[in-house]
Amino acid sequence: MTNFKRTLVTTALPYANGPVHIGHLAGVYVPADIYVRYLRLKGEDVLLIGGSDEHGVPITLKARKEGVKPQDIVDKYHGIIKESFKEFGISFDIYSRTSNKTHYETASQFFKTLYEKGEFIEKESEQYYDEEAHQFLADRYITGTCPHCGKDGAYGDQCESCGTSLNATDLIHPKSTISGSAPVLRKTKHWYLPLDKHESFLRQWILEDHKEWKPNVYGQCKSWIDLGLQPRAVSRDLDWGVPVPVEGAEGKVLYVWFDAPIGYISATRELTPEWEKYWKDPETRLLHFIGKDNIVFHCIVFPSMLKAEGSYNLPDNVPANEFLNLEGDKISTSRNWAVWLHEYLKDFKDQQDVLRYVLTANAPETKDNDFTWKDFQARNNNELVAIFGNFVNRSMVLTHKYYEGKIPVPNVFNDFDNETLNSIADIVKRTEEALENFKFREAVKEAMSLARLGNKYLADSEPWKLIKTDADRVSTIMYVALQITANLAVLMEPFLPFTALKLRNMLNMDNIDWQDCGQKEILKPGHIIGEAVLLFQKIEDEAIQMQLDKLAQSKKDNETAAKTANPIKENISFDDFSKMDIRVGTILEAEKVAKTKKLLKLKIDTGIDQRTVVSGIAEYFSPEAIVGKQVSILVNLAPRNIKGINSQGMILMAEDADGKLVFVNPSDKVKNGSEIK
Ligand code: 2FM
Ligand code: ZN
Repeated sequence: MTNFKRTLVTTALPYANGPVHIGHLAGVYVPADIYVRYLRLKGEDVLLIGGSDEHGVPITLKARKEGVKPQDIVDKYHGIIKESFKEFGISFDIYSRTSNKTHYETASQFFKTLYEKGEFIEKESEQYYDEEAHQFLADRYITGTCPHCGKDGAYGDQCESCGTSLNATDLIHPKSTISGSAPVLRKTKHWYLPLDKHESFLRQWILEDHKEWKPNVYGQCKSWIDLGLQPRAVSRDLDWGVPVPVEGAEGKVLYVWFDAPIGYISATRELTPEWEKYWKDPETRLLHFIGKDNIVFHCIVFPSMLKAEGSYNLPDNVPANEFLNLEGDKISTSRNWAVWLHEYLKDFKDQQDVLRYVLTANAPETKDNDFTWKDFQARNNNELVAIFGNFVNRSMVLTHKYYEGKIPVPNVFNDFDNETLNSIADIVKRTEEALENFKFREAVKEAMSLARLGNKYLADSEPWKLIKTDADRVSTIMYVALQITANLAVLMEPFLPFTALKLRNMLNMDNIDWQDCGQKEILKPGHIIGEAVLLFQKIEDEAIQMQLDKLAQSKKDNETAAKTANPIKENISFDDFSKMDIRVGTILEAEKVAKTKKLLKLKIDTGIDQRTVVSGIAEYFSPEAIVGKQVSILVNLAPRNIKGINSQGMILMAEDADGKLVFVNPSDKVKNGSEIK
């Protein structure tokens, strides 16, 4: 890294169609922020770029559902997301958005350059078109019956019942969600980035020249390349996005995954007139922090775009993380299975660093990981409070008690003191090494080991016992303890910026510099420290239970919603309806069908005849309770043999979301045989 003059760090632009949760923080923003804070402390030239991804079909769908404009949706969530990141101390140099003017200009220009260089291919394809709404339909705007599981309501790109990926043309009875009409196939033209053309370059650049990339990133790239790359459409028929800047492209916009990464460039342009230095000077290092679902776009598609354009740097590394699960389940916005950052901020006031710490200590760096509230509590209480907080507090309080807040002049250092002081530099070195290699879990563990060292040093040397008998010794001990404390104020800054600031204020340390880290004397004897404030507070069981209850409620709501989600069946004609002969009848006899749990054999007076009907209601009604009841019966249902009984008709029942059954019967008594129509 010493070969570089500056570093440009980008963080995946989150979609502005919902708030951000712990998965976002753990996977992308906390690691990027730690890294950038570390470089800044070292005095390096670095920029942290972020922003909201404000295009794409899901945003238009949400807007349609809520009866507002896409711009209203992104305005709302851009604000919420930006605020959450700020609250968590993610130190962006700029947090921009892709619906702004600079971005439109930048993305448009980028497309034009590639277009003019002949870097695209143009192809016609057939896409579904809604003739009533006069527009082409994105896959998500088409629903139909899944060809695999037969469930209705599958989307044009995926069936959410069985999880199969689909093409819109696979759907049986496709329907436009805009007008409800059946879409027709129409020819449309799009521009494609021929990834196949870049394959040999990608193979060399990634698989040969970047063997140092994280194994999860390298492995994904390898399997994509080995599978063979295909041209990718970079435009869409949609009315929300950056218009395709080519004549005859009315109604077409850039595909969201084409314009979003250009958003990194737009944001840098917006930030500084020197933006080109950060994007084009070969002495700048480009790093993309992303989640694993974005690997292909950042390692294959975007680099191919940059390469095709010709004047930009390619990423030096893409330290992508895996996913964070929550209490054993995938985080899901639609199922509300998440810890939302704006909610955490309300429930755990001023405890941003606790979450930063837990998410880093348990980061999904090499495999998916699980966040649990119990682990969160344990790490806070047993590590932050009991080790870090306890050590700092003791150092501060004892210095005030014995030396009126002045750093004492040390006396003779014994072996234990020397060993302890020497360990500081070792810990700093190991932390640095982990940070340089994007191993943030390891880095924070190392940094915490400095607090552990301090805690153990004080506990073992027991100054509170020696103060009456060996005051000289105590000056040395407290001197050493305070140097560890001061080191912590620097070393912890990238990980726990709020705590480190508090600590610096407590210690009256003005400017900090990474070079101080590892020094045996950061605070000179005679330096006066300020009042001690508690850095962390214990998290009680009740607070954790509240979070678990919230999640349990989400689970319950989902189960109810799944049961209620009972879409209306396809329209039928009046003729279809009048084919059904439904009458009022009376139950004359009822008995359980032997060897079954659910079935009752009923004798019904239909006003025309007396007939036998087998009905699956035994779990809800005892035979005695229903004799004499009037019911509705479908009398012209073809007879069926059920458990050896000839069943002639069907009793109509209403069933609620919990599966409870009640009879559908006339509100007043009527003659048997009365028709229901
Ligand atoms: O997966 C996502 O949330 C995308 N919005 C990430 C875009 S990253 C970049 F390319 F802008
Ligand atoms: Zn299916």
